[in-house]
Amino acid sequence: MTAVVLITGGAAGIGRAIADAVAAEGARAILWDVDAQRLEKAGADLGDQVRTQRVDVSDTDAVDAASAELRDDWAPTHLVNNAGIIGRRMTLAEVDPAEVDRVLAVNVRSAFVATRAFLRMRAERADAAIVNLSSIAAGNGGAAGNAAYAASKGALQSLTFAMARELAPAIRVNALAPGIIDTDIQKDVFADRDEMNTRIATIPLHRLGEAVDVAQAAVWLLFRATYTTGEVMTVSGGKK
Ligand SMILES: NC(=O)c1ccc[n+]([C@@H]2O[C@H](COP(=O)([O-])OP(=O)(O)OC[C@H]3O[C@@H](n4cnc5c(N)ncnc54)[C@H](O)[C@@H]3O)[C@@H](O)[C@H]2O)c1
Repeated sequence: MTAVVLITGGAAGIGRAIADAVAAEGARAILWDVDAQRLEKAGADLGDQVRTQRVDVSDTDAVDAASAELRDDWAPTHLVNNAGIIGRRMTLAEVDPAEVDRVLAVNVRSAFVATRAFLRMRAERADAAIVNLSSIAAGNGGAAGNAAYAASKGALQSLTFAMARELAPAIRVNALAPGIIDTDIQKDVFADRDEMNTRIATIPLHRLGEAVDVAQAAVWLLFRATYTTGEVMTVSGGKK
């Protein structure tokens, strides 16, 4: 049986790069995403190594309905909780509680719900593993105005530690903490060239990360990190 990796937010950016890397390993991927067009493109690119489902991971019923369709050959063996949004920029003095709820629902609650679905339907394998996509923002507080995002990633790291304890020894659970990676989530920052150059200057390796840089680390944690659980691996070009 080949590994089947369920990737939330798998149609674009880091999630899509993880799908490509998983396929290059000879495994298969299930992509859950809200972006129908990019799901279709991933399906066309990866052929029968991928299965795509349009799912909003902040919608528990949608997650449960999608997972009910995954049986037999497509029962997942690994999970990547990757879907995430940065949320609207707002100061603490002007914080909108509804926006905080939205960010936490997509970035944190989704990981609980997708993990529950995974645990109910998974096909057991000795190398079973889960990877959660956190951020260096969990440790440094993130950019000004993105407190909800930073708090969501801190919560995801604590959830990673809790999952690693509860799911051991059957399933290894680790998190990735990327730095500044060149994907759509950063497009507002990248639209401002001066802001982008200021940020690149803070990275010891002097370049933005690429989605593939993170995907390589994800593949290691998924398939090769046989004695590693409950850890956060930073992929940030040295940026703290
Ligand atoms: N790019 C970075 O600089 C960076 C840094 C640290 C952490 N991360 C984290 O990595 C993960 C992936 O980010 P990315 O950079 O690839 O972003 P991205 O915006 O390029 O991709 C995110 C994907 O998630 C999907 N998505 C968003 N909301 C969803 C929902 N409710 N249900 C299902 N799918 C949904 C989007 O459609 C998109 O395909 C996120 O959790 C992000 O917080 C990114």
